[in-house]
Formats: sequence, C-alpha cells, structure tokens
Amino acid sequence: MNNKATLRVERVTKRYGTGTTEVTAVHDVSLSVEPGEIVLIMGPSGSGKTTLLSMLGALLKPTEGTIQLNGDVISALAENRLPDIRLRQFGFIFQDFNLLSALTTLENVAIVAELTGIKSKVARHKAASLLTDLGLGERLNFLPEKLSGGEKQRVAIARALINDPALRSVTRSCVCCGASPKTRIVVW
Ligand SMILES: Nc1ncnc2c1ncn2[C@@H]1O[C@H](COP(=O)(O)OP(=O)(O)OP(=O)(O)O)[C@@H](O)[C@H]1O
Ligand SMILES: [Mg+2]
Repeated sequence: MNNKATLRVERVTKRYGTGTTEVTAVHDVSLSVEPGEIVLIMGPSGSGKTTLLSMLGALLKPTEGTIQLNGDVISALAENRLPDIRLRQFGFIFQDFNLLSALTTLENVAIVAELTGIKSKVARHKAASLLTDLGLGERLNFLPEKLSGGEKQRVAIARALINDPALRSVTRSCVCCGASPKTRIVVW
C-alpha cells in the first residue's frame, strides 16, 4: 500500500461507440494530483466527469493518453492486474453507495479489508473502530435497509477509507469525514 501516491494524467481522451454513434466523452485532459491535494472536478451534466473519474480509478481504459500512479502506467495494465490496484489504491464512494443488502453495516466495511488478505477478526475490529468514529457504533449490526440515507453514506465512506487508499473519490453529494493531510479527494 502506498498512501503518498502521485497521479499523472496525460492527454487522456475517451470515446464511446463508433461511427455515427461515437461520443467523445473526455477530450485531451491532462492533470496532476500531488499527495495531500484535493481536486474538485466540476462541469455540466454530460461533460464527462464520471467518465474521467472512472478512468482515474482504473475502472475504465482511456481511448488515448496515459494515467500514471506513482510512475506506473495503470492505464496500460492488463485487466487481471487492476482489481488489486482498485482494492488497495483507490477508495470509491459511489453516489448510490452500492452497499451489499444482505450484509450488516460492520460486514459491508470489514469485507473490503478482508479482501486484502487480513484476518477476519482484525478486519472486523478495524471496521468497527472506523464506523464508531463515524458515529455508527450503535448501528454495526443493522442491515442497509434499516439505515437512514446519511447513515448509508457514512458506511460507504468507511468502506472507501478502510484500506487507507492513496486516492479517494467521492460523489458530488458526499460530505467527507476524517480527511488527513495525505488524503487526495476527487469530487464530481
Ligand atoms: N457507456 C457509454 N456509452 C456511450 N456514451 C456514453 C457512455 N457513458 C457516458 N456516455 C456519454 O458520455 C458523455 C459523458 O458522460 P458522463 O457520464 O461522463 O458525464 P457526467 O459529466 O458525469 O454527467 P452527469 O453530471 O450527468 O453525471 C455523455 O454525453 C454520455 O451520454
Ligand atoms: Mg456523472
């Protein structure tokens, strides 16, 4: 894990479709995000924010250009290398939270830590501590359906932070808690 990562985006373009249905969602974007920097990405609906963020988070490959994380060109990596990078280097808070409905608050967060290979007991302890810091200590055994909108959002925040990722992406409606100086947050 590296939580001092620098992100470099060079001349990135993303086109969807072909021929008459081709859409250029992102056109020739370059930017750098240094450790500790907070970057806001704003633009009208359809201007390519989600597409850009998906590429920065290694969820989508650019049509042209490169994306580097600490000098490694992640945009060129094979698909089978990407899940581990997504797990350890990126913390995503999706706009609709994407909580697993059959898992409790605690399990929704602990499972993300367990995926890195740490023991279940350690993962649960870490998750409980983080959730308690976020004011959810009394909700650890609740299923998502029993949580308020703001509580679900905090579970999603805990899930994005549990592996101490280098890069944290939050949606436009998200209020981020516990941001430390090493935190890089991208909002769209
Ligand atoms: N999978 C896709 N296939 C084809 N076109 C797409 C696809 N995803 C997005 N687009 C198009 O790419 C453009 C950028 O979409 P994107 O979702 O990145 O915009 P956005 O800035 O996030 O918009 P919003 O603020 O509405 O969420 C839009 O014109 C959209 O219709
Ligand atoms: Mg969007």
